[in-house]
This record gives sequence, C-alpha cells and structure tokens, in this order.
Amino acid sequence: MSFTIDFTASSKTKADTAIVLVSDTKKLSPSAALVDQVLGGLIKHHLSTHPTFKAKTGDVLTLALPAKAPYLRVLLLGVGDVKKLNADESEGAGGKLIHALNAHGVQRGVLINADDTVCENLSTAEIVAGLISGMRLGSYEFNHYKTAPKEKSPKLKTLSIITKDQKRIAAQVKLIEQEVKAICLTRDLVNEPPNKLYPETFAKKIKSVLAPLGVEVDILSPDQLVKQGFNLVMAVGHASEHLPRVVVMRWKGGKKTKTMTKPVALVGKGITFDSGGLNVKPYEGMMDMKMDMAGAAAVVGAMHVLAARKSKAQVVGIVALAENAISDEATRPQDIITSYSGKTVEILNTDAEGRLVLADVLSYIQKKHDPKAVVDLATLTGAIMIALGLDYAGVFTNSDELWQKLSAASAVSGEKIWRMPVDQNFRREMDSVFADIKNVGNGRFGGSSTAAAFLEEFIDKKRPWAHIDIAGTAMVRGSKPINPVPFARGYGVRLLNALIRDHYE
Ligand code: BES
Ligand code: ZN
Ligand code: ZN
Repeated sequence: MSFTIDFTASSKTKADTAIVLVSDTKKLSPSAALVDQVLGGLIKHHLSTHPTFKAKTGDVLTLALPAKAPYLRVLLLGVGDVKKLNADESEGAGGKLIHALNAHGVQRGVLINADDTVCENLSTAEIVAGLISGMRLGSYEFNHYKTAPKEKSPKLKTLSIITKDQKRIAAQVKLIEQEVKAICLTRDLVNEPPNKLYPETFAKKIKSVLAPLGVEVDILSPDQLVKQGFNLVMAVGHASEHLPRVVVMRWKGGKKTKTMTKPVALVGKGITFDSGGLNVKPYEGMMDMKMDMAGAAAVVGAMHVLAARKSKAQVVGIVALAENAISDEATRPQDIITSYSGKTVEILNTDAEGRLVLADVLSYIQKKHDPKAVVDLATLTGAIMIALGLDYAGVFTNSDELWQKLSAASAVSGEKIWRMPVDQNFRREMDSVFADIKNVGNGRFGGSSTAAAFLEEFIDKKRPWAHIDIAGTAMVRGSKPINPVPFARGYGVRLLNALIRDHYE
C-alpha cells in the first residue's frame, strides 16, 4: 500500500500540507475557520476572490503559504453540496485529491475538518472512508514489466486525519481498505499479460494469496479434469501448451467445520486468453482478450475480501481456467462434446467458449456443494456492450429474490447492474440438430440472452442462479482518477462483497 494513515485528536499534527474540505457554499466549517484565523483570513480571501474555484466535488485549489505559516500549503478540496454528498462522489473526490497531492509533491498531509463536515447521507466515517478509498484506488500502479528505473517523483508518505472519533473512523477505513486491496488484486490479475498468467500460474497465484487467509484452495489438474469428465473445459483449453485448471476455493465462515451446508457459490470465467480458437477473432476483437478471465479474477478478489474481513458466511468459489488457443488439436466447429453433466453439446463456434467452461463448473459446484444460490461472473458476450454500454453489467436470473438482493448490493456498492431477460424462446434457439444443445444462437440478435439460456441448461431446477455478464464493465478505456491504469477495473468485487455481507451473513 502506498501511503500510511494515522488518526489523531490533536490539531497540532505536523504536516507540510493542510487539506480542508470546502462545500459549494464556500462557508468554512468551524475547524477550517480556526485554521483560516491562524492564516490571517487567507482561505476566505481566496474563496471569495478566486474566479473559477466553485468547490464542486473533487475541485482542488492549492494555496502556497508564507514562510512563517504552520504548513507549506493549504489544499482546498471541494465536496460540492455537502449535505447531498454520496459515497461514490466522496471516492471520486479522493481520487482527484491523491493526484493533486502527488502533483504538488506533498509528503505529509493532514485532513483538518472531517469531523465538522456534516452530510445527510454519510457519517464522518463514511466520508473519510470514501476519500481514502478513492486515494488508494487512485494510487494503483502496475509497473512489474517496466525495466527503466521509475521516475522518482515524490509520493505522499503519510496522511493524518484529525478526529475525535478515531475508533469508529479507523474501523470504517479498515473495512474499505480490505475491499480496496481485493480490488487491486483483481486488477493485478487482469492486467497480467497472457504469457505470464495462464491456467497453471493463475491457479498457483490463487493458492498463494488465499491460503494464508484461511481459504481452502484445491487445484484440479488437467489429468483430474479428464478423469472427472470436465470435457467442455478440456475441449476449450487443450489446444494450448498451457492446459486448463479448475480451482475450488472454500471459505467456511471462519469456522473449523469439515463440511459446508448450503454455501453461496461464486463462479468465474477464466479464459486467460481468448483467440477465438479455430473461429479466430480478427485483430481488433482479439486485442484486449487477456481480460477474458476478469470474472474469475473478480471471484478471487471477492474470496479475498470475505476472508480478510472474516465473513461469517459460507462461500465456495470456483473458477474455470483455460486458454482458448489454436493448434492441430483444437476443437472444431461441429464437434460434439459430452459435458460434465452428461448433456451433449454441439460446438458450432469455438469463440463462444466461456459458456462451455462455465457449464462444467456450474454442474460440478451444484453437485458437490448443493449451494443455496449460484452467482456467476463472466466476460461472456460482446452483445452485452451493445445492449448496456460500458458501465452496466447485465444480470440474467431465474430468481426474483436473488435479483432483489443483487439490486440492493449494487445500490450500496456503486457497481451498476441491469436486469436482462431469461426466456424459453432464447433456449429454443439453442436447440441442436445433432446434440442436446448447441453453443450459439441463430444470429447475433439477443446474443447475451442466448448465452444465458445456454448456461441455464446446466442449472438445476429451482436453484436460485444469477449470471452477470461483465464484458462491458471489466475494463476502463482511458485513465481515470480512481482507475489510473487504463485496463482492469476490478469490477465485481464490491458487488459480491456487498451481496454476501448484506444478504447471506
Ligand atoms: N470473450 C468473448 C466476449 C467478449 C467480447 C468479452 C468483447 C469482452 C469484450 C466471448 O468469448 C466471445 O467471443 N463471445 C462471442 C460469442 C459469439 C461467438 C456467439 C461474441 O460475443 O461475439
Ligand atoms: Zn470467445
Ligand atoms: Zn471469451
């Protein structure tokens, strides 16, 4: 983690930069007014004379101070209409704050007036947690593969927060930091290049990060997959020199029990690179396909935060890891494969591989663990981006109750979802002349729903299940304050964490 954070009741804390929250009324809170007094009214003066600083959420105005002042500078951070401030905005402001602090070479910052920044929707602890979450996510870097020595631009070292409510704020900050850490883990996994992160290395990484937290991790080897009948997983992955793995992660709610009773199952698509297979993708289509394991990465991130915060829920995660490659052994269009469930699948497009690997692990997890709900995340279809754009994930579910839970989790986590149709007509489109089901519909229309209909074929009757298509939301295009590395977003970790926390604990 980048900078350290401490909490203090003393307004005498040493720092080079005072950070002051300012609402768009530009009226200073009592503790900010005290600082202003010490500075001889300098803050008020600038607030009333500055031509452009409106103190909208995330706006920054930096004032250099004279030699004898207690700080080198004061940084004013706009929080807009503070009464209406929400967690997302607070986080966004944090993202802008960290970039401004680093741009000014701030080493030690002190947040002056968290306690008396009063908001209707958020407690002080929530405002501070939002800011810190934005600062941490905004500090995310991915430089493992740069050999040139990094420019030694100074970065923020410590942030002090003046508050009388140290305990409560520290607890809230701890929770958000556990979540941020998991999001950064998910980002790291997705950002890794596909020649470094492939099924074997991905599986090892999962074990190395989750086992120390008390998650039981089992890796199914290619031999075991063949023996146990994961034929769809093998059909997708066996053309690659990097053979598939399936990884099962068990979090037993922090208890020392042997078995789990009706856990929640989280399932992830983990195609470490999707070339399309023999139905090879064109140049543009293949460009970002190292991200085709973002569903699996989100499940791993979710397991990480659940274990880190010692969730009381029993949760089993499973990811299907394979590389969709081309060789003389590659699966052909028109091949018929018997799935783990026993149903036969006619593969008519090798690029519709995500649903294939998911089918096997969905069957497996239901058979082995009898989960009370199954939620899968997958970068499944380009069509979901046509339907919903890049900010909403599409949810397909057979359960109104599970939808309600996901919808509530989305509202508190800020990760947007939209319900999409599940309908027998989509399933009928998947009827095959030669096998029980084929893996594509008859054309491009409703491509995300036909994919979901395929998955539902492998869901037990009456089992609450939701499929979340994250093809649009898994990555960001272009650098953003809380997503400075323009690729992986880490989408899904927060949604799943909120779902488990608020509905299964
Ligand atoms: N991994 C892709 C879906 C995807 C596309 C994810 C773009 C992220 C960005 C998936 O395996 C795929 O290729 N789907 C096909 C399905 C089609 C062949 C029925 C698609 O969406 O075109
Ligand atoms: Zn594909
Ligand atoms: Zn894919």
